[in-house]
Parts: sequence; structure tokens; C-alpha cells
Amino acid sequence: MKTARTLTAVTRHRFLVALTAVVAMTSLAFGRDTKRVITDLGVKEGTVIADVGCGRGGLSFQLSKVVGAKGKVFATEISDKCLKTVAERIKKEKVTNIEVMKSDRTKTKLAPSSLDAAIVVDVLHHVRKENRFALVKDIAASLKPGGHFFIIDNKVKDKITSEHVARVDFMAMTKAAGLTLDAEFFYLKNEVFLRFRKSAK
Ligand SMILES: C[S@@+](CC[C@H](N)C(=O)[O-])C[C@H]1O[C@@H](n2cnc3c(N)ncnc32)[C@H](O)[C@@H]1O
Repeated sequence: MKTARTLTAVTRHRFLVALTAVVAMTSLAFGRDTKRVITDLGVKEGTVIADVGCGRGGLSFQLSKVVGAKGKVFATEISDKCLKTVAERIKKEKVTNIEVMKSDRTKTKLAPSSLDAAIVVDVLHHVRKENRFALVKDIAASLKPGGHFFIIDNKVKDKITSEHVARVDFMAMTKAAGLTLDAEFFYLKNEVFLRFRKSAK
């Protein structure tokens, strides 16, 4: 009996080690060094940030550890299934600083001027073209003056497909929302990583 229990513990441990390796490999396969990305988001204890289109919440949970009890992560989604997954994990892990929010296609429902930063990872090319300007404008409105908006999305390699947003379109929609490009990070293999700033006034 004792041996069986020990074996189960060993099997569980091996499974967790293998799972961690797969997650790390997947992250590398997509060319995304998440730790480095989080550093470049400038997130620290007390930061209030929105992960817009959070999916299953992988980034939100990592951000929650960095912002701590004084900070907050708003995990927004249009998908009920994703929100349910995130909410269940919050409950299971007893996380107190992530708030899930059900958004509309062009409205996050985030409070105006409430965020230090917002990020959209692999989201904008999924948003219908006619909704992108309105969504970005809504996100910009939720930033505090001087706040940052980050875009990570597929890099255009050969031609623009439905999996991409043209750079000129990123620039047009952020400009219309009153945001200015103030940094770009080039280390992601398959994605562009842009930082925009809302004017301090
Ligand atoms: C490819 S997933 C990326 C999820 C997550 N950001 C990640 O990197 O793992 C795209 C997500 O964007 C969400 N989405 C699409 N349009 C959206 C919108 N207008 N507002 C918020 N989320 C949206 C989808 O429901 C989907 O979960």
C-alpha cells in the first residue's frame, strides 16, 4: 500500500516535470520568452494592468504574482468559456488580485483612466477589422495619463493574411486613440511587440 502511494507520488511528480517542460517548449516554439516580456511590460508591485482577450489566463496569472496584493490584473474576454476557465483557476488557487471581466467586442467595460497598462496578446487579428479602432480607443480610454498599451501579435513574414494586422493599421488605430509608439522590442521570433503611451496630460 505504502509502495503504491509512493509510486503515485513519483508518477505525479514526473508528470508535473514533463508538463512544465512541455509548457516551456511550447513557449519557446512560439518564440515568446514570457519572463522577458513581463520585465519589458514594466510591471511591478502595485501595478494595475488589463490583459485584454486573456484567453485561458496564462499571462494574467503570471502578472498577478508580480503586481502582488497592492496591484490588480483585469482579465477581460468576450468568451464565456475562457472566463469560466480563468474564474475556476482563481478559485482553485485562491488568487485575490485578478478580476475577470466579460467584454463586448468593442467595449472592455474597464473604468476610464484606471490602468497603468493594458496588453493585447494575439488578440487584435482575431477582432473584426471594423471593430479594431473602437476596441483600441476603448482600451486607451481606460489608461491613466502616461499609461502604456502593449500589442503582441503575429509578425508579417511573407504576406498579410487573416492571421495578421498590418503595421500601418496598428499605427492608425493607436494614433486615432491618442496613443504614441514609444518603444518596440525585437526579440520575439514570431511576433511584433509594441509599446504605446497615452499622453500625460
Ligand atoms: C488566440 S487567443 C489569445 C489569448 C491570450 N491573449 C493568449 O495569448 O493566450 C485570442 C483571444 O481573444 C479573444 N477576443 C477576441 N476578440 C476579442 C475582443 N473584442 N475583446 C476581448 N477579447 C477578444 C478571444 O475570445 C480569444 O480568447
